[in-house]
Amino acid sequence: MAVNSKFVKETLVVKNELLMPNDTNMFNKLMGGKLMYWMDIAGAISAQKLSNSLAVTASVDNISFKHPIEITDVITLTAQVTRSFKTSMEVYIEVVAENIPNKTKRKTNSAFFTFVAVDKSGKPLRVPEAIPETDREKELYEGALRRRQLRLIFAGRLKPKDAIELKSIFDQKI
Ligand SMILES: CC(C)(COP(=O)(O)OP(=O)(O)OC[C@H]1O[C@@H](n2cnc3c(N)ncnc32)[C@H](O)[C@@H]1OP(=O)(O)O)[C@@H](O)C(=O)NCCC(=O)NCCS
Repeated sequence: MAVNSKFVKETLVVKNELLMPNDTNMFNKLMGGKLMYWMDIAGAISAQKLSNSLAVTASVDNISFKHPIEITDVITLTAQVTRSFKTSMEVYIEVVAENIPNKTKRKTNSAFFTFVAVDKSGKPLRVPEAIPETDREKELYEGALRRRQLRLIFAGRLKPKDAIELKSIFDQKI
């Protein structure tokens, strides 16, 4: 393992939240914006753990709200870096809602966030390499390059013709 690298597991963040009336919408379900706020915080801490520096959110991939989260639920957010690049890090965040008295638990959301390590003046900093170990970590690591190219195309920072990892998708004649 290179000196300037860390294991993916070292970036794990687990954050619990108990819902309060102020966190809900008019149907007594968790507000989507509040959940995104907690996801952003869990992801930023994970990115800080890899980079040992401050990190800002550069982009958020698609977040779906498959199941509502009830006011009686306790939520657990799990965040972990999947892969790092030069100054940016992709973080995978998963949300599970649990009704403890009823002994029920379900995954409600997941998303990939991208954070950039920055110095005090906001200038991007080089980040350590994130080394995956488990099969799941390796799977997320492998897919990260494709997801990065796709989001950089959407952000207008990469031309589709230069997205080598996505060539097989864009070259398909539909
Ligand atoms: C994110 C930010 C630091 C990037 O700065 P920049 O001047 O564009 O710097 P660079 O062009 O060197 O890009 C730095 C990294 O960000 C990545 N990046 C920039 N925009 C991105 C986007 N929309 N999606 C994914 N990655 C992005 C680049 O790919 C690059 O990654 P790499 O170094 O690993 O290859 C800058 O845009 C910024 O400060 N944005 C505001 C962040 C913020 O306020 N977040 C809170 C949201 S409310």
